[in-house]
Amino acid sequence: MPLVIKDEYPEKLFRKDGKRLDGRDLDELRPIKMEVGVIKNADGSAYLEWGNNKVYAAVYGPREVHPHHLSKPDRGILRVFYRMATFSVFDRKRPAPGRREKEISMIVSDCLEPILFLELYPGTSFEVFIEVMDADGGTRCASTTVAALALADAGIPMKSLVSAIAVGKIDGKRVVDLSGIEDKAGEADFPIAITWYNEEISLLQFDGDMDLDEMNDFLEKAKVALSKIHQIQLDTLKSKYLLAQGELTNEKEIEGEN
Ligand code: CDP
Repeated sequence: MPLVIKDEYPEKLFRKDGKRLDGRDLDELRPIKMEVGVIKNADGSAYLEWGNNKVYAAVYGPREVHPHHLSKPDRGILRVFYRMATFSVFDRKRPAPGRREKEISMIVSDCLEPILFLELYPGTSFEVFIEVMDADGGTRCASTTVAALALADAGIPMKSLVSAIAVGKIDGKRVVDLSGIEDKAGEADFPIAITWYNEEISLLQFDGDMDLDEMNDFLEKAKVALSKIHQIQLDTLKSKYLLAQGELTNEKEIEGEN
């Protein structure tokens, strides 16, 4: 029986009808679903399904710093732990956190730190645990996006949310929101994050080659896509409070009837 190698790259990343392999147009995002308050033990939590990516984020804090020597007398600290489950990818992923996971933890932390008021919480820590259960390209962006949502769900004062997306080039064409296969077989991968309170870029990595015109176009495309993602984050947070408000109103009505 021939050995099946799932990760073999296709020759072309576009179909005959001009669509991408998963049926999307150049600027089309994969389906996105977000939810908050999914982990009851956490101070705040969120879940994100972004295409085939499935990512949880749980936030704890402000709380005592362990180990103590990491604590800072004049401000709180933020610690981010990005992990990919061993079953989240096709290849054999080692259970212990590798260099990639440490790098992505640092990237996500750098994106989140500017939106927090850490100076208001001396001697404490905020810990963000991110677990990728299923990975299919763009997990650093998905993790940044879902972690920001979990921080907001925890009720931690924030300047704004932060949203992230990867744009890139496949078969010579510029596309938004690379899937796993597009990330691996394409020519360029360009993850970008925006902090919304000042509209500054808090993540910009690049793998591949492009000229300045292309870069400007990528930034424009990313900004349009990021606005859509931001809106989903806001709607997800609002829906939690609208639900709670609805429940409260119902309770009051029932009390009034009795
Ligand atoms: O996930 P992201 O695009 O932020 O990071 P990456 O290192 O560029 O990885 C791209 C994709 O490769 C991931 O989303 C996974 O789908 C896949 N991957 C994998 O199959 N095995 C790994 N050990 C790491 C990543």
